[in-house]
Amino acid sequence: MLLPILLAFANPCQPCHPQIVQSYEKTAMARSSSKHVTNLKSSEPFLDPITQTTFSITPGFLLKFSKPNQFEGFRQLSFAIGSGRVGHSFLFKQGNRLFQAPVSYYSETRQYQLSPGFQRRPQLDLTRVVEPSCLNCHTTAFNPVTLDITPGIGCERCHGNTARHLATAGKGPIVNPKKLNTHERDSICAQCHLTGAARVARYRPSGDTYKPGLNLSNFSAIFTEPQSGDDNSIGVTSHYESLSLSQCRLPDNQPLSCTTCHDPHSEPPDATTYFNNRCQSCHDTKPCKQTNDTNCISCHMPKASGRGVDHSSYTNHSIPRDKSPRQPASKALTPFWADSTNDRDLGLAQAILNRIDQAQPLLEAAAKANPKDLTVLSQLAQIHDRQGREANALPLYEAILKLDPAHPTASTNLAVIRAKAGRLSDAISLWRTALKSNPAQTGVRMNLAQALLRQGNRAAAIEEIKTALSYDPDQPAARRILTQLQ
Ligand code: HEC
Ligand code: HEC
Ligand code: HEC
Ligand code: HEC
Ligand code: HEC
Ligand code: HEC
Ligand code: HEC
Repeated sequence: MLLPILLAFANPCQPCHPQIVQSYEKTAMARSSSKHVTNLKSSEPFLDPITQTTFSITPGFLLKFSKPNQFEGFRQLSFAIGSGRVGHSFLFKQGNRLFQAPVSYYSETRQYQLSPGFQRRPQLDLTRVVEPSCLNCHTTAFNPVTLDITPGIGCERCHGNTARHLATAGKGPIVNPKKLNTHERDSICAQCHLTGAARVARYRPSGDTYKPGLNLSNFSAIFTEPQSGDDNSIGVTSHYESLSLSQCRLPDNQPLSCTTCHDPHSEPPDATTYFNNRCQSCHDTKPCKQTNDTNCISCHMPKASGRGVDHSSYTNHSIPRDKSPRQPASKALTPFWADSTNDRDLGLAQAILNRIDQAQPLLEAAAKANPKDLTVLSQLAQIHDRQGREANALPLYEAILKLDPAHPTASTNLAVIRAKAGRLSDAISLWRTALKSNPAQTGVRMNLAQALLRQGNRAAAIEEIKTALSYDPDQPAARRILTQLQ
């Protein structure tokens, strides 16, 4: 449910917890998304040399884009994601979906440039639907019908449902993380600060989702493995994973918690002094072997270089003796919480990592054990499909669509099989289903247009190609076909 916009300013907790509300409002988490993009600065035109697209941002926050003699257009940017300490990315609405803008603002250079993941692409890309996880980490709530967000990370993301506490003037219960057991407490920060190598949504037939106070591992299975490549860069949303590798221990021999060092409601004015004091609160009796230098974090929590809006590098939370980060002991893909996972989750994790040989037998077994597990059926069908085993994929797609007639992957891929078999009308209706859930799939829409043409429905085909170009203007082939048809 969305709060009315007024509450975004007048926090209902303010009357009784004024200090916490005031200090929290200034934190990066409280400001991690915003609807007030027009407060940001506009931008003169700049050229992306690869796609030869010129972008500019108007004071009304239109993102304009053009390529001479090919296309020009604009998108109204609606939301900014990111507090701006590092930068902002932007989202726009089109049709029934939110999309990620191809340009972001980078605070360090104070410039708009291509967004992370959009660099080195041969064509302008305006078709990237925002994944739910993005909004889950950066907003309080998202309404998929109105496409509106409740901006910032509100109190309820860590304290759970606030209704009873508010209705009883603070006498009713509310989650206090301090009073939870270790796993439930850590789950609150891990919702957004633990990604691992692969994160899998567990099978929950009721469709319920994680809430503060519960155990995250009942909802998400997270798998870790040693990182390859530059040993100083660990996924930025894996602070929890890194911290779990630290040798530091609380007095009860438990690993440190995030709140051992961080106050979730405020950011320290002088981070270096503040954090070094945290170290010394435990280490004053067992000091450093190496030096008397009291800037502990400069050596034991070094920063990776080039921190950017791409979530790629950060402060080393494994607290190593020397500067290289610790790695998990096991070389294999290992569940972060060993007690609550199974082969089904591992199979899906392997599939996410594209390790088909490991994934396939696990998913076959999982599909047999639970023929209603749509995630498993869909992954398995795609594995068969990609490896050319259409005969194996076909019954799986059919089974999925029986359970969920709007399933996007199953309808897209079954349509291809139907079209090949000459069943054009079936293919057309499946592609239309797929486009309802994501209207910006150019490939799917061009397939649909082609099928319509084969049926002799030229007018409808022209409409589909025009729609494809309205989402995805940098498609020379589509433009060419359109000119031929018109
Ligand atoms: C009308 C006053 C009032 C309002 C409004 C209010 N609180 Fe409280 N809150 C209290 C009081 C009083 C306590 C202390 C209760 C106690 O210690 O038994 C409390 C305690 C808490 C606790 C600790 C609970 C515990 O079990 O230790 C949390 C967390 C909390 N409030 C969060 C919030 C949040 C978040 C909001 C806004 C959604 C909010 N409060 C709004 C009065 C209020
Ligand atoms: C709903 C998701 C979410 C939850 C829950 C969450 N965080 Fe965050 N956290 C974020 C995001 C997103 C950012 C980045 C904010 C930005 O700069 O836009 C962030 C940033 C931070 C920062 C960095 C602030 C800075 O100085 O740059 C700290 C520290 C932090 N979180 C600690 C915590 C702790 C401790 C908890 C648990 C008590 C927690 N977070 C729970 C999403 C979350
Ligand atoms: C798993 C949770 C998670 C997901 C998913 C996620 N982020 Fe983040 N994001 C974070 C955290 C945590 C930080 C802060 C890290 C830091 O301060 O170094 C962050 C930082 C950022 C920043 C820099 C903010 C600043 O400090 O100025 C931007 C911009 C951003 N994210 C955009 C996005 C966008 C856009 C998406 C989705 C398309 C996304 N993020 C998905 C958790 C997440
Ligand atoms: C990022 C997670 C996070 C967010 C967001 C958050 N809190 Fe908290 N809050 C915590 C944690 C963790 C604790 C327990 C702190 C501890 O261990 O001492 C806590 C404790 C509290 C307490 C109890 C204080 C006590 O001494 O026991 C109150 C009251 C409270 N929060 C109010 C709020 C209000 C009001 C907001 C929104 C303005 C808010 N919190 C937002 C994580 C959060
Ligand atoms: C809650 C107490 C606590 C806090 C806070 C803490 N540590 Fe530790 N740390 C320990 C304990 C206990 C050990 C285990 C080794 C030992 O017996 O001293 C340890 C071990 C270490 C080690 C040795 C690791 C190894 O591989 O042998 C380093 C380095 C270290 N801490 C640095 C720090 C730094 C830097 C900070 C602050 C950022 C910090 N610690 C904060 C309790 C703590
Ligand atoms: C031993 C102390 C310590 C603990 C425990 C700790 N942090 Fe940090 N954290 C730091 C320090 C030091 C920084 C860097 C602060 C700075 O330079 O401004 C930091 C920075 C961050 C940032 C900003 C982005 C970055 O990487 O620089 C985030 C986000 C964050 N911590 C999240 C967490 C989360 C989530 C946990 C719990 C899993 C946690 N931290 C536990 C000390 C700690
Ligand atoms: C100039 C870099 C540097 C600074 C600053 C620094 N350390 Fe260290 N520290 C090291 C190195 C290197 C080692 C490893 C020594 C070895 O392996 O013999 C070490 C070892 C340690 C150990 C392990 C000691 C043991 O008995 O095995 C602890 C604990 C520790 N440091 C804590 C701290 C604390 C706390 C601070 C801040 C008061 C601090 N360090 C400041 C470089 C530094």
